[in-house]
Amino acid sequence: MATLVSHPDEVKIVTSRFGKGAANIDRYIELDGYKAVKKALEMGADAIIQEMKTSNLRGRGGAGFPTGMKWSFVPKESAKPKYVLCNGDESEPGTCKDRLIFEHDPHAVIEGAMIAAIAVGAHKVYIYVRGEYRVLLEIVQKAIAEAYAKGFCGKNIFGSGYDLDVYWHGGAGAYEVGEESALMESLEGKRGIPRIRPPFPAVVGLWGGPTVINNAETLASVPHIILMGGQKYADVGVPRNGGTRLFCLSGHVAKPGVYELPLGYNLKKLIYEVAGGIPKGHKLKAVVPGGSSVPCLTADEVDIALDFDSMMKAGTFLGSGGVIVLDDHTCIVKFALRTIKFYRHESCGWCIPCREGTDWLDKTLTRFHNGGGVAKDIDNMKYLADNMLGRTFCPLGDAAAMPIQGFVKKFRAEFEAHLDGRPCPFAEHPAISALPVLSH
Ligand SMILES: Cc1cc2nc3c(=O)[nH]c(=O)nc-3n(C[C@H](O)[C@H](O)[C@H](O)COP(=O)(O)O)c2cc1C
Ligand code: SF4
Repeated sequence: MATLVSHPDEVKIVTSRFGKGAANIDRYIELDGYKAVKKALEMGADAIIQEMKTSNLRGRGGAGFPTGMKWSFVPKESAKPKYVLCNGDESEPGTCKDRLIFEHDPHAVIEGAMIAAIAVGAHKVYIYVRGEYRVLLEIVQKAIAEAYAKGFCGKNIFGSGYDLDVYWHGGAGAYEVGEESALMESLEGKRGIPRIRPPFPAVVGLWGGPTVINNAETLASVPHIILMGGQKYADVGVPRNGGTRLFCLSGHVAKPGVYELPLGYNLKKLIYEVAGGIPKGHKLKAVVPGGSSVPCLTADEVDIALDFDSMMKAGTFLGSGGVIVLDDHTCIVKFALRTIKFYRHESCGWCIPCREGTDWLDKTLTRFHNGGGVAKDIDNMKYLADNMLGRTFCPLGDAAAMPIQGFVKKFRAEFEAHLDGRPCPFAEHPAISALPVLSH
């Protein structure tokens, strides 16, 4: 299990119970657990949704969609049952926050999902946990069993007359099932490939019923918002970006780990102060700020606020909160190759631009990095990525294309330095040459 890190600038809301034994329900209750769901039952659906809108909570799964607005799209009346799904598939490289939430505070996810269910009139909740997180699935299973044993789930919860069942489901290990419609296919027992949209899940989701799907961190934030009030939560962040988020620092920083900071926190400060800067006297080269699927920022671009809007203005995304830091001893071409190998491997193969595009990029980058590159490869890689973007069935194609576009645009000189049979300029660096590149 992961070691917890800490920094004085942290504002601990979602992580407030970490390291306090809250995976046990009695301890969770001592730490104000299950108070928010009782309050939510008294508030009623409309007031809960209004509180979420006031909080400016935006989805922590990647897209940053406003949570209150998402819940308000669910029709009040429905002939089919409604559902709430927790997306705990967490597979985006560089992202490792949901695993800490499941490990330290699984009841917060359950309670948040229960509140979401009350808000939209659903009576069934599914907590979907990534296949590789087997050990966390056991923690979630135990937490659900504890909640049932206390009578908090099932019939007539807290004497309110509201019935609410909570189930768990383990994935089989595929990045693609983190995509919301593929997750629903997987939950229905089918192959995890995405669905055509519209209709959107809020109207036609799991088994055809109206469905809310939210990331585990989004849902774990909900009980805190209900207890502290939407406005107070919103005030922690910046306009349109309420509260905190868990930033996962990895790569070349002295103190990697997961830090909870207000939205709008400065990225440069995050790297140099919170995460202790770049070790071994090396310099910063680039940052991939929102999980491996987003365009990188160069060292000159890191004096920027970490919120959804500022990142978009800078041509990248806050994404899943995975901040990957690369020092000046890193070969960008090799990093691009490692990135594309992941997406090529995880492409479900259904649509051509993604299936063929990731394969061609992998082949080109492999040859290129091995000294077999020709000048026109550089523009060809850009051309391939440009033709994938926005032309695939689900956003995995974009996720594969965007980082490549960023690397080629911002580090063209480094690609050129690999041309004409020259060996990788970083090949002699022991840390780099030791890095394996996944093969199939
Ligand atoms: C290929 C792909 C993988 C994704 N993986 C995840 C994931 O592991 N966890 C997650 O919460 N969202 C993931 N998403 C985003 C979900 O589709 C969805 O937007 C999210 O669960 C909504 O929750 P939120 O509004 O709370 O962010 C992924 C999207 C794509 C396209
Ligand atoms: S974009 Fe990729 S992952 Fe998504 S449907 Fe097409 S082939 Fe599958």
